[in-house]
Amino acid sequence: MQLAVIGTGYVGLVTGACLAELGHSVTCLDIDKGKIAALQAGEVPIFESGLEELLERNGDTGRIRFTTDYAAAIPGAEAVFVAVGTPSLATGHADLSQVTSAAAALAPHLDRGATVVMKSTVPVGTTRTMQATIQEARPDLAFEVASNPEFLRQGAAVDDFMHPDRIVIGTISERAEATMRRIYHPFVSTGVPMLFMRIEGAELVKYASNAFLAIKLAFVNEIADLCEQVGADIEDVTTGVGLDSRISNRFLAAGPGFGGSCLPKDTQALLHTSQVHGAPSRVVGAAVDANLGRRSGMARKVVTAAGGSLQGKQIAVLGLTFKANTDDLRESPAVDVVRALIGLGAKVRAFDPQGMGQARRILPDVDYASGTYEAIDGADVLVILTEWAEFATLDLARVRQALAEPVVVDLRNLYDPAEMAAAGFHYHSIGRPVATPSS
Ligand code: UGA
Repeated sequence: MQLAVIGTGYVGLVTGACLAELGHSVTCLDIDKGKIAALQAGEVPIFESGLEELLERNGDTGRIRFTTDYAAAIPGAEAVFVAVGTPSLATGHADLSQVTSAAAALAPHLDRGATVVMKSTVPVGTTRTMQATIQEARPDLAFEVASNPEFLRQGAAVDDFMHPDRIVIGTISERAEATMRRIYHPFVSTGVPMLFMRIEGAELVKYASNAFLAIKLAFVNEIADLCEQVGADIEDVTTGVGLDSRISNRFLAAGPGFGGSCLPKDTQALLHTSQVHGAPSRVVGAAVDANLGRRSGMARKVVTAAGGSLQGKQIAVLGLTFKANTDDLRESPAVDVVRALIGLGAKVRAFDPQGMGQARRILPDVDYASGTYEAIDGADVLVILTEWAEFATLDLARVRQALAEPVVVDLRNLYDPAEMAAAGFHYHSIGRPVATPSS
């Protein structure tokens, strides 16, 4: 099938590459000329596991192309996926200006019978508003719309696209339903559930899924705090709780709180929508508040580990991205924690395997090391903030030797407290008793 994807951010680019991998002929469009020129030259602007190979393979066979020209991308496309950004405004509203301008720009070129598919995460009602915008520009055109939310984790987006738990489609049009069935036929034929529902339902599935994940994390982090007070171990508690199949053991890792470009933004947007429609969500509001408060709590943990003050202390920070396997620092708990540490008088030397470029812009007061052990050298406290695999396999003897004081604050629970005690560390983690050197 001939398809178009508007927007080459991580959702649009992954969607375009994966649709090409499914055998479709895909044109990806972005108004950012620099980005398109880079993609045409074979450069991949984001760090996303498996994406480069997919773009190379499908670029070679001509199944994926890049353009800035709507007149080149839209005519002939049976479906046009809209995957533009919907950032948060200060008010908590989603900024829909990119959706509106994409709809206005694609309308003149849309074929009769084509389906415009909303892939961006948008507040309930936006897909119908987009339909109205297009119809206004082309009053005589018969076309369809559908909502098709994405459930792609950054860092695992290609894998999530190619192995979905479910495909959700919001449409009331039989023609759009038939188009979407053909697009996703390779998944449906292997048994992936494909759900059809009203447009509003599909839009809400996305927000409710992300909000539920956020609530799950905010809750598990509160239980971790309680574990620290009562002498329990959060790993025991989540293992016990997660074996209840109604709860599941996934997305139960306690840590410095949720971040990224999705959970914080989508919970805010859902709060806003629920207020506007007179059905306020106290549960989501509590999760958002708890998560924000957690960041200063993490900084206090470092102060305690350092003996009560950070004034003049040298702190080594490993990990700045909001989670491992991404170069993204948006809403990263690490950024707020580092700012708080500096505010409390600490000198921070940091290292992150992929996030240094963004970090230098956001955190100018940090001294950046070129590797893990350089960051640690001479530090009074080592703080681990992101669960990169290389931070979970440190040479503990070397770390012990490099640190001025043997104090480790592990906000991702990468190590076993007994092992850290045996290696000579004062080891502070999340929801587990503090371990002190056993020899
Ligand atoms: C999230 C959802 O997981 C995707 O399903 C969704 O499609 C995506 O948002 C989106 O809306 O586009 P993502 O933001 O990439 O994906 O990141 P997650 O892997 O969900 O992690 C979110 C945050 O929760 C991170 O800060 C991570 O460190 C934290 N987290 C996650 C934990 O603290 N513990 C866990 O067990 C899992």
